[in-house]
Amino acid sequence: MPQLLTLTRAARLVGVTRGSLQKKIKQGELATFEGMIALTELLRAYPEATLRLTDNSMLERVQEFKDNALTKVVSDRVVLPDAQTLATRVTKLSQELAKAKTRLDKYTSLVDRLKDKLSELEQTGDTDQPSAFSGLNAWLSQALQEQPHATDLPERFLVKDSLLRIMAAQIKILPSGHEFLLEGTDTILEAALRAGLAINYGCSNGNCGLCKARIVSGEIKHIGHHDYVLSAAEKAQGYELLCANTAVTDLVIEALEAGGAQDIPVQHIETRVKKTERLSDDVMLVHLQTPRTKRLRFLAGQYVSLEVSDGLAANHSIASCPCDDRNLQFHIRKHPENRFSNYVFTELKGADTVSVDGPKGEFVLQEDSPRSIIFVACDTGFSPIKSLVEHAMALDMAESMHLYWIAYGEGGHYLHNLCRSWTDALDNFEYTSLDATANERAASGPGHEESVHQDHLIEGLLARVTDDYPDLSERDVYLAGPTSIANTAEFFFLNRGLPQTQLFIEHTH
Ligand code: FES
Repeated sequence: MPQLLTLTRAARLVGVTRGSLQKKIKQGELATFEGMIALTELLRAYPEATLRLTDNSMLERVQEFKDNALTKVVSDRVVLPDAQTLATRVTKLSQELAKAKTRLDKYTSLVDRLKDKLSELEQTGDTDQPSAFSGLNAWLSQALQEQPHATDLPERFLVKDSLLRIMAAQIKILPSGHEFLLEGTDTILEAALRAGLAINYGCSNGNCGLCKARIVSGEIKHIGHHDYVLSAAEKAQGYELLCANTAVTDLVIEALEAGGAQDIPVQHIETRVKKTERLSDDVMLVHLQTPRTKRLRFLAGQYVSLEVSDGLAANHSIASCPCDDRNLQFHIRKHPENRFSNYVFTELKGADTVSVDGPKGEFVLQEDSPRSIIFVACDTGFSPIKSLVEHAMALDMAESMHLYWIAYGEGGHYLHNLCRSWTDALDNFEYTSLDATANERAASGPGHEESVHQDHLIEGLLARVTDDYPDLSERDVYLAGPTSIANTAEFFFLNRGLPQTQLFIEHTH
């Protein structure tokens, strides 16, 4: 019986993302058995993994992004399970080991008996057959003497897999089949959100009961206090609160997940300004924090209404990842004639109260799409695109992603280094910055007497996308920017053969 691994564990074992594995499976370079991967097959497909048996650098870099997206200091996060959980996992592995050893002893004894039987037949059997028995016996003796080599790779990967099983529990959600790992002392809800899953929940705090789910198999442990009381019938059926429990062993749970924006309720939350920070001369980062007991549940790409003072409100896309529902970030552009923008740039300060209403909008990832993704951000349209990119990274969902960011002049690509670091960290991510000012200058050079119309300017920049990807039929395009640019871009892509159903547009607020 070959050693079979889930996709999540196989990816962790050879230090690649699930997306890389899925790509190999799709291209027929990696065989699966009922959704599982044999260890020997995995090592055949990733021979380079044998050279970096202890190297998970790519996964670690992705994890670092997730931690940064969570606005936590990485070292603050406890990645070791508690002693009791560790002891339980070690005990379970020891039990598996004991069973395997019992089976091994049984087979060893059978082989010894077979060997004796062959010797016996060699000496006393049919006179025509002794040489055959003798040959078989000699072969068996030799085969038994061949010791597995000390550097036997499958064996070393099995050791690594055992260690990873001790460090992290794997959780599978029914009926979706989504899988994620729970590390350290995270609650099941925290681990699911960190993995980018839109699991059902409300307060994150044990009060509302919205995160209750049925534990189908595995062992959990209560951590923290909760006020919500499950009924006797719910308890009898195995329901538990995901925000109040962690996983001791691997789990299978039955839980509700949002199927789309329509499943996320509109919420009203009084938040505090944690900080404001200039990302460039004309773009302000506004970082809001919700109360611990009332967090914003949303999908990446959605927007909310922000009310900064009495009656002064505006819609803005959330720039941060839903995996951190307490810390909400926004990129606000300076518009001197706009009262909201003026207020943010001149009056808003730390600890001020900002009312948040939402989420709204349907500019969200199509998680079931098998296609690669092109993101096109225009100016502060980068804000919802950033949230989508971080979410896609957490979900590990796309074979490849390419971000094009169109902006004007110096400071236009106000998070240029962040985009470049995504490229450095992920082998399936590319980033192209497009400077609309430079293009305008080029277009207005010799032979152009007059300034070129903005539509032509944007089309000229978007041609970079179709130069890179002449065939758009296998791509999903997510585009966010001011209405005038978004309309031009929509016309451009549809005219070049992108199916309407594969184009997702957000007119930024
Ligand atoms: S999210 Fe409210 S009780 Fe768990």
